[in-house]
Amino acid sequence: MQHQPGKRQEETLDPHDWDNARAVAHRAVDDAIDYLRDVRDRPVWREMPADVRSSFDALLPHSPTPLRQVYRQITETLMPYPMGNIHPRFWAWYMGSSNFTGALGDFLAAIQGSNLGGGNHAAAMMDSQVVSWCKEMIGFPASASGTLASGGSMANTIALIVARNAKAGVDVREHGVTAIERPLRFYASNQVHSCHRKAIEAMGLGNRALQRLPTTDDLRINLDALRTAVARDRAAGFQPACVIGSAGTVNTGAIDDLDTLADFAAQENLWFHVDGCIGALVAIAPQSAHLVRGLERADSVALDPHKWLHAPFEVGCVVVRDAAAHLASFSVVQEYLEKTPRGLASADWLYEYGLQTSRGFRALKVWMALKEHGVEKFGRLIDQNIAQGRYLEELIASEPLLESVAPATINIVCFRYCPSGLDELAVKRLNLEIMMRLQEEGVAAISDTTVRGKHCLRVAINNHRTRRADLDLLVREIVRLGRDIRISR
Ligand SMILES: Cc1ncc(COP(=O)(O)O)c(C=O)c1O
Repeated sequence: MQHQPGKRQEETLDPHDWDNARAVAHRAVDDAIDYLRDVRDRPVWREMPADVRSSFDALLPHSPTPLRQVYRQITETLMPYPMGNIHPRFWAWYMGSSNFTGALGDFLAAIQGSNLGGGNHAAAMMDSQVVSWCKEMIGFPASASGTLASGGSMANTIALIVARNAKAGVDVREHGVTAIERPLRFYASNQVHSCHRKAIEAMGLGNRALQRLPTTDDLRINLDALRTAVARDRAAGFQPACVIGSAGTVNTGAIDDLDTLADFAAQENLWFHVDGCIGALVAIAPQSAHLVRGLERADSVALDPHKWLHAPFEVGCVVVRDAAAHLASFSVVQEYLEKTPRGLASADWLYEYGLQTSRGFRALKVWMALKEHGVEKFGRLIDQNIAQGRYLEELIASEPLLESVAPATINIVCFRYCPSGLDELAVKRLNLEIMMRLQEEGVAAISDTTVRGKHCLRVAINNHRTRRADLDLLVREIVRLGRDIRISR
C-alpha cells in the first residue's frame, strides 16, 4: 500500500520484509534439526551462568529489535539451558521426551491459528478426531465424550467435577456444594497424585472429602480398606461418591486392581474414575496391556499424550462414558456464542466440555505423530520402556551397593545407594548428593521420592531415546559417585 502523506500509516505485526522472515525461519528450522539430532552429545542439564540469569531481568522492551537479533538472543540464553527432558538420560519426575513431528505440529497449529473453543472448521474436527482416537486406544466406546486439556491435572479435575455433579443428588451447578445433603466422599490410595487434592479443594468439597487409603505391599489400593471406609462413611452419614483408581502411581508406577475397583464401584453405585496419566496408554502396548485390564470399564479416564505419546507440552485428555453428564457439567450457551444453522458457528462448541473458553490447537501435534508413526509403534515404545525398567532392576539386583526400594510394575524404578554402616538420614543425604551431582555433571537427570518411609532415587523411563547402555552408565556413575562422596555421620 502507498504511504499517504499526512496520514498515520496503519500498522501490522506481519514482517515488513518477508524474505528476511523466511531466512530467519529457515535458519531456526535448520538449527532445530541439529539441536535434536545432537541432543545425546550435550549434557542433560547445566546450570546457567550469571550473565544468562541476569538477561532475564531485562526490562519490558519499548522499541523494536530486528528478528535476526531476537533469534540470536534465544540461541544464546534459552536453547543451551533446557530442563533436559528431550535428552536420552532424562528420567526425572514423569515427562515425555517430545518429538520432532509434534514440534512441527505445534508450529503449524500456531501458524494456522485456530481457536479450539469450537466452531465449524478443520482444526475443530481434528480436535474431536484425536479425542476419538484416545477413546479407541483405551477401549472406550465411540459414544463417550472427551476433551483435550492442558494436561493430566486438568483432565482429572474435569472428570472429578462431572463425578461430583453426577453423584451429588442436587443441582450443584445451580445451588452450590452447600446444598448437598450428605457430604460427598471420594476414595483413592495414599499414592494418588496431588492434582486430585487440588481438584477436590477447588471443587469446594474440602481436602478431607478425599479419603487416602492404605496400600498393599505392592503399593496398590488396599481393597479391604476401601470396603471398610465406604461402609463406615455410609453409617456415619457421608455419601460415598467416587473411587479413583490409579493406572500407574506417580511414586512407583503401581497399578490398582482396576477390574475389582470397577466391580466394587458398580455394587456401591460409585463413580469409577481412573487416573491413567502415567499408565492408561499401556493399553496400546502388546506385551503389557493386560496390566491395565478394567480401565475400559471406568466412568471416566484421564490420560496424558504429553507423557507416553511424547507430544510436546501441553496436552492431556479426559474421556467420560456418559457424554450427557459431561456436557451437563460445563455447558453454558451465551448469547454471543449461539449456534447458527450454517457458517462458522454451525458446529458444536468444544468449550462446553471443560473450563476453558479459548483453547489452543493441541490436537495437531498428536495427530501428526500418530499418523507418521502409527499407534503400533507407540505401543512398542511403551513396551520398550517397561522392558528397560526391568533391565534397570536387574542391574540394581546385581550391584551389592544398590538396594531396591519398591517393585517396578512398569517403567518407574525406586532404589538407593546403600553402603553398610550409615543411618537413614545419612543415606538420604548421600543419595541426594548423588542425584544433584548427576544433574550438575550433566550425566543424567533423575529425581527422588520417599516410599513407605524410605527415601530413594527414582528413575522414570518415559523416553523414546533411552537405550540400555544409558542405564548401564547410570548405574556405573551412581556407584562411582557413591564411593567418592564423603558424608559426615
Ligand atoms: C499419576 C499422575 N496423575 C496426574 C498427573 C498430572 O499430570 P500433568 O502434569 O500432565 O498435569 C501426573 C503427572 O506426572 C501423574 O503422574
